[in-house]
Order: sequence, then structure tokens, then C-alpha cells
Amino acid sequence: MAERVSGTSTLAEVERPASTRLTIVSRDGTAHDVEAANGESVMLAIRNHGIDELLALCGGSCSCSTCHVILDSDGMARVGQPEGDEADLLDGSLHRSPNSRLSCQIQVTPELAGLRFTIAPED
Ligand code: FES
Repeated sequence: MAERVSGTSTLAEVERPASTRLTIVSRDGTAHDVEAANGESVMLAIRNHGIDELLALCGGSCSCSTCHVILDSDGMARVGQPEGDEADLLDGSLHRSPNSRLSCQIQVTPELAGLRFTIAPED
């Protein structure tokens, strides 16, 4: 799927995909390729694809840390380190790693194509 984005000139007209393919790795090691809508959070992409072991109890308001995922180093370079409340919540996890993020705080964009998000063990 693609949506058309128009600029001020016809030369600036570009095609941007409406969704981005991500890989979600469940706690049992199963890899799920999901087509995530651009603009939604990675947490919603995971939940909307029926992967309900990611609890996301607060619904994405950055107050529970049950949407904890772990990326590889390339993924962290692309999404960046957590800050503020997100970093504070992750500090409380027994399973925090240098590549931890809360999936409700990551917006799906085409730049994330192909990234793997591993669901962290339950605290
Ligand atoms: S869903 Fe609660 S912190 Fe992400």
C-alpha cells in the first residue's frame, strides 16, 4: 500500500508507503513478520497482530513498562535511546538491557523497515 504525498511542485511528489514491515520475536523465539501502519506505535502494531503476550497494560501512556522490547544494535541506532519517563520506567525492569525500549514510545515509520523487536521477559 502507498499513499501519495504532494509537495509544492510536481517534481516533489513522492510515494510513501502506508505501512512498514517489522519482525516481532515472541518470548518463545517465534519470529512474526507484521505489516505495521505508519504513524501507529510499535506496541499497537504488535497488539493488532494478535501477539498478546505484550500486555501494554496502560494502553500506551508510558506508565506501566509492560510493552518492553529489546532491539539489536542496528535497531537502537535507528530508533535512539529512551529518555525521560521511558528511561525511568525501564530502570525498574529486571530485564533492562542497553537495547531496551518501550514499544508504545516508538512510532512506526518507513525508516524502521526490517527491524526486529524482541518481547522482553516478563518482570
Ligand atoms: S503500554 Fe504501558 S508503558 Fe507502554
